[in-house]
Amino acid sequence: MALIIDTRTEPDRALALACETLEAGLPVAIPTETVYGLAADATNPDAIGRIYEMKGRPRFNPLICHVADFAMAERHVTFDPISRRLAEAFWPGPLTLILPLKGESAVHSLASAGLDTLGVRMPDGFSRAVIARFGRPLAAPSANTSGKISPTSAAHVEADLGDKLALILDDGPADIGLESTIVKVEGDEIRLLRPGGLDVADIERLTGRTVLRAETAGAAIEAPGMLASHYAPGAAVRLDATDVQPGEALIRFGGKPLPGEDKAALVLDLSPASDLREAAANLFAYMKQADASSAGTIAFGAIPNEGLGEAILDRLERAAAPRDGEAP
Ligand code: TXA
Ligand code: MG
Repeated sequence: MALIIDTRTEPDRALALACETLEAGLPVAIPTETVYGLAADATNPDAIGRIYEMKGRPRFNPLICHVADFAMAERHVTFDPISRRLAEAFWPGPLTLILPLKGESAVHSLASAGLDTLGVRMPDGFSRAVIARFGRPLAAPSANTSGKISPTSAAHVEADLGDKLALILDDGPADIGLESTIVKVEGDEIRLLRPGGLDVADIERLTGRTVLRAETAGAAIEAPGMLASHYAPGAAVRLDATDVQPGEALIRFGGKPLPGEDKAALVLDLSPASDLREAAANLFAYMKQADASSAGTIAFGAIPNEGLGEAILDRLERAAAPRDGEAP
């Protein structure tokens, strides 16, 4: 079973044990402001191999490498002017940049899945201190079994991967609750590969450019991990519900009751005050709570497609997508 250390009460012990475990080539679950990550030394192929094994993740799906500062990032990737501007504005924070890998980078090709680019992010919070102390980038996907809901608490990580892991650092619930926004700059175009915890409108305001969505960019799936079915709870998922069937779990938004919810197995509201940030922070924990109820179906009320709503709806569409082995 994993040792769980609370970083708020024992920060020194947490840092020391995390670095010791990482040096030994073992993954450590670390808190970031987006979701909990399953982190390993990005320069050590054995350590990275253990991440793929623990998650059951396909090896063609590259990992984001997390850095503590710009100097660390620059040892591994080259910044174009727009990417640099974005990093300066939004790091540390929920933004991942896809950048050309430098020939001299010590990041192992297993982390980048053999691509000539690397996803790089400077996370906020305790994980950044871990990376700074460790001194090398940490490759870290979300700390969940591949295809399942990302963890926003140490307890989520323990329930999913606790018997495979040596160490989980507990820093309380994740502030943002959605994975990072991923963008790739090509020439003077900014392409959105995954909506996430940084509102795309903030990127557009800073740069004065329109961020190209996958559809408008005319691209197939560009982040190899963006598989149609993902974030899948055990229960079926029904979107844009305007009423509730008896025995369903309801997850709604905005504080307004839906017809039939008195017969629901469970009713949760992502943000009674209609705050999309609060909704994002609650989303994955509520999905897990609804999934643990007796309900065979989770119905979601409508969520506005603006601001962080774009990323929330992206996750819900994947949660509702047909799973492997199911008819489409
Ligand atoms: O907030 C986050 O981003 C969290 C925390 C732990 O940092 N990490 C995370 O990692 O969500 P993961 O592995 O669950 O998702 C990473 C996504 C995948 O869809 C992967 O395909 C994409 O990033 N990705 C990584 N490197 C890439 C690259 N070089 N080019 C395109 N997509 C890349
Ligand atoms: Mg993930």
